[in-house]
Amino acid sequence: MSETRSFPPSSEFAAHANATESLYAEAATDPDAWWMRQALDRLTWDVAPTTALAWKAPFATWFADGRLNASVNCVDRHVAHGRGDRVAFHWVGEPEGDVIDITYADLLRRVSRAANALSDLGVRAGDRVAIYMPMIPEAVVAMLACARLGAAHSVVFGGFSADALADRILDADCRFVITADGGFRRGAVAPLKPAVDEALERCPAVSRVLVVRRTGQDVSWVNGRDVWWHDVVDAASDIHVPESFPAEQPLYLMYTSGTTARPKGILHTTGGYLTHAATTYYYVFDIKPESDVCWTSADIGWVTGHSYIVYGPLANGVTQVLYEGTPDAGGRDRWWRIIEQFAVTVLYTAPTAIRTLMKWGEALPAAHNLSSLRLLGSVGEPINPEAWMWYREHIGGNRCPIVDTWWQTETGGIMITPLPGVTATKPGAAMRPFPGIGVDVVDNEGNSVGNGEGGYLVLTRPWPGMTRGIYGDPERFNDTYWSRFPGRYFAGDGAKRDSDGDLWLLGRVDDVMNISGHRLSTTEVEHALVGHPAVAEAAVVGASDDTTGQAIVAFVTLKLSADEAMTDQSALVSELRQHVATVISPIAKPRQIILTPDLPKTRSGKIMRRLLRDVAEHRQLGDVTTLTDPTVVAMIDGLMSTHINDD
Ligand code: WT7
Repeated sequence: MSETRSFPPSSEFAAHANATESLYAEAATDPDAWWMRQALDRLTWDVAPTTALAWKAPFATWFADGRLNASVNCVDRHVAHGRGDRVAFHWVGEPEGDVIDITYADLLRRVSRAANALSDLGVRAGDRVAIYMPMIPEAVVAMLACARLGAAHSVVFGGFSADALADRILDADCRFVITADGGFRRGAVAPLKPAVDEALERCPAVSRVLVVRRTGQDVSWVNGRDVWWHDVVDAASDIHVPESFPAEQPLYLMYTSGTTARPKGILHTTGGYLTHAATTYYYVFDIKPESDVCWTSADIGWVTGHSYIVYGPLANGVTQVLYEGTPDAGGRDRWWRIIEQFAVTVLYTAPTAIRTLMKWGEALPAAHNLSSLRLLGSVGEPINPEAWMWYREHIGGNRCPIVDTWWQTETGGIMITPLPGVTATKPGAAMRPFPGIGVDVVDNEGNSVGNGEGGYLVLTRPWPGMTRGIYGDPERFNDTYWSRFPGRYFAGDGAKRDSDGDLWLLGRVDDVMNISGHRLSTTEVEHALVGHPAVAEAAVVGASDDTTGQAIVAFVTLKLSADEAMTDQSALVSELRQHVATVISPIAKPRQIILTPDLPKTRSGKIMRRLLRDVAEHRQLGDVTTLTDPTVVAMIDGLMSTHINDD
């Protein structure tokens, strides 16, 4: 990793930047007071809070005596301030020409109608509502309508299987589901309603399903349970008087993968989360709501979509692009056409997307006018310096600062990032903690490492957007994050301080994989594989991949009967890959499955994942003397080179 290249902020950018160097010192003097000021400056409260942090490790509250409504902060107040004509979303559907401009005034009417309809269907403050939708305006409207009613949404990524959806509905005890018939994905119609129908066979508590018609495909219908969005929402009144809720009212659950097979329902509440999302959005993306057109190219099924499509940007009253499809739908220059068409100023995307666009060549972006761009962001995985430089040169015209932002579902918002116009940037480094955020890099014993050294990333003090826990499992919350280094939050990432003291993120240090910026646990995929009747044992590792960052490689042993009956190995391998896609999601499909008679284990019976990762990455194998049978590794290594089942 090169530390020699450093790009100081340009004086043009610095002259108009929202952030100033003094923010760091102000926040450091009294972080709670600094956050309190942000809460009061950036949000509209019905009852202003008088206290900031209350901390009883590992549980925090922020601004607990304040009252507010998240949907009012994202929508109503902009209209009330005379900005109802400003476009909130240029929505771009995947089929060419499918564009809708939605102003803040339109958004208010849509959210109010949806809130009235949900309320008529029985949704009440404190309920949980599952949302399983494509990237259409109704998805954002549904989230805001839930927030308006004080009901927590639990958005499940539309790429998840019926099984995964059912698990999440059950864990959160959702009584309501909002979905669509389907969505458009790479020119094809991707169904959603059938997965809901299948999931609900296991979820008898769900009493109502609200369905948006997006594709017009035939769907099956359960009378009394299913209702069309256009029947009940379009008919509802577009006036809805909002209630205010306590700052700690649950806002949403977002399920994410941990180190076990069971995903965690990460809980976020209202006042602190919204303060964190709005403040980081304002400073990190240097938001000028009157003139910016921002595009966060994430799906609302992930936390990036929650914090930096819905809550952060809308709280700032900015105009955004919301795009339904894939980067290659209608041609591999689709993104560049969208940026040109809407004169996008701020683009926030993931390294995987950048590497993919890079593979498609610079002629495509070069053929479009991208001069409206003024700031670029990256999130979700470590960005390699080559991709960073390509992004800077070919998309940012060597003029746009790049903010590499580190954070997690659990942190709710950005934690480590440069501040544009203030912080110098280095290709591949996330640089500095955001003002008011405490970060350290520690060794195994929890001691801070010096400059030039690596270790574990920890967060040293509570922050407003911090998760309030794992839904229904306070103990797991404490064990996972707060027990490795008592009193500090263990993020699960490795990090390094360079010789200047700047921060570089080095990837996960636990059994969590990062595939194209999607977080998946090795055990979750192993669990899915072992659920197949032919599989005896499975070991899964994340191996580095040039495009997706990591890719899933699975080592599988078969049950004897399956082994004997197996005539066609490659057919079984495809079946197993499909099985994982069905049980979890196509994003969890292993790149490679190696069928092996045995797995390398320590004498205590633990599978040696580290060795398997070496094998999967074609590395020189290290010490194998602790294995029960060292020859197993050599054998797997041999099998590896003959089994490539990527598609
Ligand atoms: C994990 C969190 C942040 C929203 C999307 C992902 C990795 C995230 C970076 C970055 C290096 C990063 C970490 C983290 N990660 N951003 N800028 N540089 N790694 O949220 O699904 O909760 O995943 O993503 O490993 O722990 P998530």
